Amino acid sequence: MEWHWPVWGENSAKLASDQKKAVANFKRVNKFNVTFLFLRRKKYRLNHRELLCQLKTRVPVKTIKAGDGPFTREAWEKYLPKDNPRERLGPFKSCAVVMSSASLRNSKLGEEIVLDSHDAVLRFNAAPTEGYSIDVGQKTTLRLLNSQLVVSEKHKFLTDPLYKTGVLLMWDPAPYSKDLYEWYKKPDYNFFQRYKAYRSLYPDQPFYILSPEMQWELWNVIQENTAEEIQPNPPSSGMQGIVLMMSLCDQLNVYEFLPSRRKTDFCYYYQTYRNKACTMGYYHPLLFEKNLIQRLNHGSSQDIMASGKVTLKGFSQYYC
Ligand code: C5P
Repeated sequence: MEWHWPVWGENSAKLASDQKKAVANFKRVNKFNVTFLFLRRKKYRLNHRELLCQLKTRVPVKTIKAGDGPFTREAWEKYLPKDNPRERLGPFKSCAVVMSSASLRNSKLGEEIVLDSHDAVLRFNAAPTEGYSIDVGQKTTLRLLNSQLVVSEKHKFLTDPLYKTGVLLMWDPAPYSKDLYEWYKKPDYNFFQRYKAYRSLYPDQPFYILSPEMQWELWNVIQENTAEEIQPNPPSSGMQGIVLMMSLCDQLNVYEFLPSRRKTDFCYYYQTYRNKACTMGYYHPLLFEKNLIQRLNHGSSQDIMASGKVTLKGFSQYYC
């Protein structure tokens, strides 16, 4: 049997008790009204190709366009891009997805991330390169943001130069129904005005809003391929970003999603905040996302142990 770098437990039994309690609470509250009927069954072990095809055929990497449901042309035409990310970007041969994990600290992976013929690099939320390029590289081609960051005063989204590089995409936790009208009335974070303000200030920087379909179809695939019930909350930005890049790149290297031997209780490489739930999950079904990515990995256990590196095929590599 293939040797696995045994750095995380594959089921929730290995989570700390406060994490377990939080997960139970998320299930009880079921904020997004998830109606998925969980049936315990054995056949969740799809092979590589089947799993990739599930993601490719079921998870739409779709963005909101003017005219979609409540995003009327009158109110949104001026702001929403007319194209979609796949028309503007790629296809790329090789991409890097750089997580924000503290285990990137002292990794010296910067050179590999920048030089290893990566045509595009995806980063998340407030993750900086300045001051950390030895570990995380310098280039940013895309940045995936959550709505919480977009609205928060702390992050100074409208003015901080961090956000002015590359193509921006954002997402907001939406109801499981994926109903655009329901979501529009009650987004998790009311980001619409802030999005419009950003677009008015920087009309030349592409900035997309991901459709709620993406988060929940992805959640369905994760749940259907997991032997236990997962948190009824959307997948992490990291997991959504991996799928986004699978749609744009022939091959991708993902750094420190599956933690290396540098795994730590610190949260981010750019902060000193400590919480092990950042790596193994609390709000997001991170543990189960990581199990799925491990199953899709074409690289070696050695690469995970040393570099937290997973190598994945893009959607273009399989005919489904
Ligand atoms: O927290 P934030 O969403 O900004 O971090 C970007 C992504 O990096 C997360 O969504 C998660 O997938 C990943 N991450 C991780 N382990 C950490 C911190 C972040 O896997 N310790």
